[in-house]
Amino acid sequence: MTFVFLLGAASAATQIEGGNISHTWSGWYQKGCIRDGSSPARACDHFRRWREDIDLMAEVGIKVYRLGIEWARLEPARGNYDEAAAASYRELFTYMKSRGIAPLLTIHHFTNPLWFEDIGGFATPANIPVFLGFVEYVVKRFGDLVDEYVTINEPNVFAVMGYFAGEFPPGRRSMRLALRVQSVMASCHIQAYSLIHKLRREMGCQNTKVGFAHHARVFEPKSKNNLWHRLCARLTSRMFQDALTRACLLGRFSFPLKKYGRLRGKLRCKLHPGEYADFLGLNYYTRSTVSKLGDGVREGSPRNDLGWEIYPEGIAICARELHDILARPIYITENGTCDNNDAFRCRFICEHLKVLAESGLPVERYYHWCFTDNFEWCEGESARFGLVHIDYASQKRTLKKSGRFYAAMIKNKGVTDEIYNEFVAPQEYHL
Ligand code: BGC
Repeated sequence: MTFVFLLGAASAATQIEGGNISHTWSGWYQKGCIRDGSSPARACDHFRRWREDIDLMAEVGIKVYRLGIEWARLEPARGNYDEAAAASYRELFTYMKSRGIAPLLTIHHFTNPLWFEDIGGFATPANIPVFLGFVEYVVKRFGDLVDEYVTINEPNVFAVMGYFAGEFPPGRRSMRLALRVQSVMASCHIQAYSLIHKLRREMGCQNTKVGFAHHARVFEPKSKNNLWHRLCARLTSRMFQDALTRACLLGRFSFPLKKYGRLRGKLRCKLHPGEYADFLGLNYYTRSTVSKLGDGVREGSPRNDLGWEIYPEGIAICARELHDILARPIYITENGTCDNNDAFRCRFICEHLKVLAESGLPVERYYHWCFTDNFEWCEGESARFGLVHIDYASQKRTLKKSGRFYAAMIKNKGVTDEIYNEFVAPQEYHL
């Protein structure tokens, strides 16, 4: 099997950087809401050790890396920017370039500064210009070093987990709020899309690419002959992802979403139907088997260590659905699995890549989630997704078997028989 797309890795600022930062996840930790009691202040200490991590990435042969910046670190109080933090990120981007690694920069990935949360965060449409103010800062400060941007990571997961399931900060449980947050974030995305292009044009920069990272899954009725299961699958899919897809990609807000926000002054940008992505960012993990409103896992299916079904075919199903709506190059902005003992990760990766390679879709990038093990939100340090093992106490990094597999695939532009026999053939999923 050969690949024509690039193999990279993805991460998020809060999950790897560490440090005592006044953001929503520090607050969530202080409330005792992280299952294993670990704190995001430790994570992978990447804000200080980024050079070591980039060196390791270069050793693996990675040329494209999706990474985040921490809003609360850069703007610790509203309108006050921390220039030392910005300088450190600039050093990181410059170093990446020197090692031949191109950044895809995520501006928002699940975490708000506490001051932004205190004024209502994304549940308040009047805050859209506040977010855009940060976007403007980011592009002006880093735009000469970064060509490609993900505006927002998974607005649907952020909204559902934080405002409906109550498992992410701010821990609310309201369907109405969750839908409003999705709408506000979609409005933020499409305005940020236009803003980033405008600013980069003014800076004389070319090759700007902007998109958002959509979390999509396959929603399948438990029984195809059951009308109720079918109805629930359709409705869950629409509420969770389909309406958002159209809002973010095309600026079309249909049930159950509503369009928000028209800006005045220099950032003015009307929300109207258009095309708001230069690539289709897809984060794919699993399939949901639906027999009532919500989530379910197919009986007898292979599962990862968090109980999520492993369903490689789904990655092409979801990518095709996006591509049918807007024909753009596809970036798999995340795909990976919780496999604490690295017992089946090589098989998982190989099977997902095979589906992509055979899909006939214009896949250009695959960013594996994640490069190193990291702080997995409410699971804390106990759920491991990395190609690189982190010993959190000593902060020692060790390339896992799956990391060596990844390096071998990059080197050979695919999976040869030898690579398959060494890494994939011996592995099996558990049920
Ligand atoms: C998120 C990541 C997360 C991963 C695994 C995605 O939904 O973007 O931040 O670590 O899933 O749960």
